[in-house]
Amino acid sequence: MYATLPKQQVVTSREQIMQTLSQLSLTDPDTVRLPFEYYERMRKEEPVHFDERAGAWLVTRHDDIKQAARMTDVLSNGLGLDSAGRPPWQDEIDEMMRREGFGPHRAGDNFNVDPPLHARRRGLVNQAFGAHRVSAIEEDITVIVRDLMAAFIDRGKVDLVRAFSIPIAIYVISDLLGVPRTRRDDVERWSDASVAPIGRGISKQDAYRYARDMMEMHRFLHQQFEERRRNRKDDMLSDLVHAQIDDEENPSLSETELLSCGVALLAAGNETTRNGISWGSLILAQNPSLMDRLRTADDQDWALRRFVEETLRIQPPVPQLPRVAVADCEIGGTRIPRGSFIYLCWASANRDAATFENADEFDLERANVGQHLTFGSGVHRCLGAMLARMEMKCAFREIVNRMDDLRLTVPEEELDIWGTFVFRGPRSLPVTFVRRTT
Ligand code: HEM
Repeated sequence: MYATLPKQQVVTSREQIMQTLSQLSLTDPDTVRLPFEYYERMRKEEPVHFDERAGAWLVTRHDDIKQAARMTDVLSNGLGLDSAGRPPWQDEIDEMMRREGFGPHRAGDNFNVDPPLHARRRGLVNQAFGAHRVSAIEEDITVIVRDLMAAFIDRGKVDLVRAFSIPIAIYVISDLLGVPRTRRDDVERWSDASVAPIGRGISKQDAYRYARDMMEMHRFLHQQFEERRRNRKDDMLSDLVHAQIDDEENPSLSETELLSCGVALLAAGNETTRNGISWGSLILAQNPSLMDRLRTADDQDWALRRFVEETLRIQPPVPQLPRVAVADCEIGGTRIPRGSFIYLCWASANRDAATFENADEFDLERANVGQHLTFGSGVHRCLGAMLARMEMKCAFREIVNRMDDLRLTVPEEELDIWGTFVFRGPRSLPVTFVRRTT
């Protein structure tokens, strides 16, 4: 069954067709908004392409990306996020964080490290983030989603991003970690601060503001960890503090690792999952027949899981992520010199016609939808994939079961799509709807 995709996702912009590949760039706001034409051009014309203005190689074909994700000996995950676009005044800010807080944390203090250190950290964090915690919480997520919807279901109109997607992601991860609900506004501010500097230019003034938010977050987490060292609770922050591996020298996470992994968990799931929920909500608002189909499906759980997967494929919240070549290497037949920045373009892989038939179409019955690379590939594959999927499913279930006549109140082309190199999603989704009575 095929549903029509929103025009803005499939229509090629006239300007983009007229330009040569080298005139296009991931740094253009228009391309951030509508990257799919650029990806397609690269896949066809130059699948491993050097984007001059981004100063990085873009790997765009599904199979090449999977191969590159496995090349952990030459493509390091340890340097990319920290070094990409580091502004000249960053040293000052780092110094302030050392003087007044717990110091600047690098992506390399959490999961952005290479094997074998990566396996150690992931092994420790997995003790907190294992299936035992995540699979048990579908009911809790459903309650969160219902409570949020109760606040606007009688109003007939809402901004689904602000009132639904953002709080779902924040509330769920806060509850899992054991962060008190009274701190939810802070969690949103801290989470924004931790991802804001990634992959885009921000002013020095903003960078100071974000750094102060980060210091506040570190102080908060430090205190939470201290409490749990004395008094273990039934939450993920406790699991992190008490996680142990069989290694005499380094059996548990250091304070820096704890703080950095705590920030990563609190923040990594927010910007991403909120965009996943928002993209799916947008697709529903544009496809009344899909809403009906999901509502009346014999096996609604199965249908919703398919919907989640195809949404993730067609509109991945994380379009690409960086690596750094620590040695000369070759990807897809292209020589990449040592020291180069490389982006693995998951969003492009998901539209690769060599892997997905009618890749630009939304197909609820796509047989190989599971091959999408939205959660990455290889050793760094997303730790929160199961949680994100469950949050999305619970959110969509409430939308299809409780809303009728869901419509966007602005034309699609006026939707505010926010993006950086590494995140992409609607900033707001103003909709009207009718509350279902049955
Ligand atoms: C739709 C939502 C999500 C998307 C699209 C997403 C996407 C990704 C991707 C593409 C990676 C691979 C990183 C790489 O190869 O460089 C990743 C890793 C990761 N994700 Fe997610 N993520 C989502 C939700 C979450 C959630 C809910 C959490 C946790 C609360 C989370 C935590 C992580 C962590 C800790 C890693 C690092 C894993 C490692 O390097 O070993 N993510 N995610």
